[in-house]
Amino acid sequence: MSTDHNPGEAEEGGGAASPHGVVPMPVRVNRVRDEMAGVTTLELTPICAFSFVPGQFNMLYVFGLGEVAISLSGVPAEEYRVVHTVRAVGAVSQAITRLRRNDVIGVRGPYGSYWPIFDSEGSDVVMVAGGLGLAPLRPVIYHVLAHRERYGRVVVLYGARGPADILYRRELEAWRRRLDLDITVTVDHAAAEWRGNVGVVPALISRAPVDPNRAVAMVCGPEIMMRFTVDALRQRGLPMDRIFVSMERNMKCAIGLCGHCQFGPAFVCRDGPVFRFDRIAPFFNIREI
Ligand SMILES: Cc1cc2nc3c(=O)[nH]c(=O)nc-3n(C[C@H](O)[C@H](O)[C@H](O)COP(=O)(O)OP(=O)(O)OC[C@H]3O[C@@H](n4cnc5c(N)ncnc54)[C@H](O)[C@@H]3O)c2cc1C
Ligand code: FES
Repeated sequence: MSTDHNPGEAEEGGGAASPHGVVPMPVRVNRVRDEMAGVTTLELTPICAFSFVPGQFNMLYVFGLGEVAISLSGVPAEEYRVVHTVRAVGAVSQAITRLRRNDVIGVRGPYGSYWPIFDSEGSDVVMVAGGLGLAPLRPVIYHVLAHRERYGRVVVLYGARGPADILYRRELEAWRRRLDLDITVTVDHAAAEWRGNVGVVPALISRAPVDPNRAVAMVCGPEIMMRFTVDALRQRGLPMDRIFVSMERNMKCAIGLCGHCQFGPAFVCRDGPVFRFDRIAPFFNIREI
């Protein structure tokens, strides 16, 4: 495994501090794609080069309304195209999904820790995503494909509620045709015409084509899905220090000052959102935390 990479002050799987300021930068929306009902992908054009590491997030500010944390979901190497996929759930996220080309939004970031893409070189990589959890893992797929020779087997297990809820469907179909990437999609429920897998995503882990002795797992989705996924990965023989999860908590400052994102002794904005599982295992299963 390679250990010589240290972009900025952030850290793989925990312990990040953003080197960036706290003032949102106005950025123009260049392109909008409606992914499915209530979910939109925005492509923003920053006025200067913007770089991030997969797993990190930006704070998006709808002027006069508020700010939310949103994962970076685009190609890490594209410095003039910042991509976010947003589900409309509350006032701010709904306003973001209503933005159109040439609208302006405030952006600050990137913040947070990142997936262990550098320490995983030489290992098998298994990504397990549920629902919108595919968004923060998509940059890992882009990175791994751009440096394919550095990784062993690469497996993506993705679960959605139903066929209409599959995110990035066309890209997943294109990736499924590749021989150097193993993609399995499953849905919780489907009508008879669905020819794919039916069932929850953790159920795919027992037969995933990875070697537990040399695999690193990256997991993102609803917390209940992550709990079952971590259990299945451990049953498969992965040690806790090779399982990484991305946590979500409400955020305000995103720079470790306000305490809004407290998660046990950690702050998700500063110490996460990507955590190495052994570091959070004692409080991962306590729902109130
Ligand atoms: C590190 C990090 C990365 C994130 N990445 C993304 C991302 O890539 N895309 C994205 O859409 N969101 C993402 N989120 C969630 C996002 O920050 C907001 O919490 C969410 O958009 C709701 O904000 P709001 O102000 O619109 O709604 P709020 O006013 O906060 O909530 C309105 C209602 O929706 C419920 N709610 C809040 N959040 C969610 C949720 N995530 N799912 C379902 N119901 C919810 C609340 O309980 C409440 O009932 C991320 C959060 C974190 C911490
Ligand atoms: S949002 Fe994490 S400490 Fe303020």
